[in-house]
Amino acid sequence: MNRPAPDWSLPRVFAHRCGGALAPENSLSGLRIAAALGFRAVEFDVMLSADDSPWLIHDETLERTSNGSGRVCDTPDSALRSLDAGSYRHASFAGEALPTFDQAVRLCRELGLMANVEIKPAAAFEARTGEVVARRIMDLWAGGPLPLVSSFSVVALEAARRVAPRLPLGVLWTRPPADWASQVEMLDAYSLHCAWDKLDADVLKIAQANDIPVLCYTVNDRSAAETLFARGVAALFSDRIDLLIDM
Ligand code: G3P
Ligand code: MG
Repeated sequence: MNRPAPDWSLPRVFAHRCGGALAPENSLSGLRIAAALGFRAVEFDVMLSADDSPWLIHDETLERTSNGSGRVCDTPDSALRSLDAGSYRHASFAGEALPTFDQAVRLCRELGLMANVEIKPAAAFEARTGEVVARRIMDLWAGGPLPLVSSFSVVALEAARRVAPRLPLGVLWTRPPADWASQVEMLDAYSLHCAWDKLDADVLKIAQANDIPVLCYTVNDRSAAETLFARGVAALFSDRIDLLIDM
């Protein structure tokens, strides 16, 4: 199996959605906070706007994390640019803009942060999102180490693989299905990502025997993190980066 791998070593802990619970999720403030605390890598979610531009946001709709409303995929860039995506977390983040993917990548590179880019397509935009995000990655990270790219959508990952054969991929599941290993092989994926409490011992054993790193989300408790590392999990995603700072 020819699996493109990151040419940077995985950290033990990725700050989840940029800065975990310490900042608005998927925000530039989150990137700055993660870097200031000494984190080497972050995870964030990327979705397309109505103009086909990639933006950092988790939900398909704007209500929970901004003062906007409606679906991200129906909203033009001009409207996304004017949103307040900080106040929902705390008044001290009022006026924080929703970041474009380009802004986030430039700041990661400036701060020396590596990334796990999670392609988060809106329903029916899976292939398009995989393709657009992979193309932007190859431009924005040109000449530098490439990020690890993951998705719950195999269609998005297949599209990313088609346009960027060298991209390190991770396949995301809540609980890995029975055919997880053949999906990893079909995509030439590097890693398996799953919910920390849905990782069965036999899955971990097969992954380890095949040199497939297992990454678990979202671990917000120190003793759970210690147990997972002791079992051989390679890395974790956490919102409570303040609790896992020295792991
Ligand atoms: O990539 C790991 C994790 O972020 C997946 O779940 O819903 O937080 O994007 P979610
Ligand atoms: Mg995510």
